[in-house]
Amino acid sequence: MKRIILDNYEAVSSAAADIFVQQLSNKPDSVLGLATGSTPLGLYAELVRRYQAGIVDFSKARSFNLDEYYPISKNHPQSYNHYMRKNLFDKVNFAQYHLPNGETGDPQFECSMYDIAIKSAGGIDLQLLGLGVNGHIGFNEPTVSYPMSTNLVGLTDSTLSANSRFFSDGVKQPTQALTMGFGAIFSAKRILLLICGASKAAITEKLFSGFIHTDVPACLLLLHPDVIVIMDHEAESK
Ligand code: F6R
Repeated sequence: MKRIILDNYEAVSSAAADIFVQQLSNKPDSVLGLATGSTPLGLYAELVRRYQAGIVDFSKARSFNLDEYYPISKNHPQSYNHYMRKNLFDKVNFAQYHLPNGETGDPQFECSMYDIAIKSAGGIDLQLLGLGVNGHIGFNEPTVSYPMSTNLVGLTDSTLSANSRFFSDGVKQPTQALTMGFGAIFSAKRILLLICGASKAAITEKLFSGFIHTDVPACLLLLHPDVIVIMDHEAESK
């Protein structure tokens, strides 16, 4: 695991954009694994800026997002589908993009089809991850055994509370999500984990304590052969 510590969020977003641009320049038809949440917003804005400047092209690239709330309509303002279209897909030229379908009536079938689609695409070349305050990656919450396949999961109180900031009063927050499991995440040839902000300092300290804490799903990344972690000073402040 390679660690890069930068001054602030802007520097992290720009360094992450460099990695995506390099990936697409080396392999224009890359399969990209994408994340949502606050952390990648700066990266996506930077990729849009570089696309508009003619520096990067997504026309041969395909993407698979990590997760989606369940149940949720694609056009719900807090759905990850809406987030991705608003922040990236409507502004650049991906050949194809995929997210788990939060509208499905058959989540198990949806999960199986999602894994098959990732496998048929040849697996993921570059997987972007954020880090939950409880150590989750995707929506793989801390537990005793972690699923390999895409799954319907219940969200923990910690995650519900961390993400409640996105749901205004009176808007019901889903308590479940469809998330890629460790099989698809670990199929990625390279993983880019971004960690920003003081709220992540405690879990970042645990992640880099030199132990694989089984109650910190992100610790499993320590076993992957090609992970780059880019974080800001606030996240590594402990
Ligand atoms: C989002 C995802 C989550 C987030 C994590 C951090 O697709 O899979 O694991 O990356 O909850 O969220 P932020 O960036 O909002 O702190």
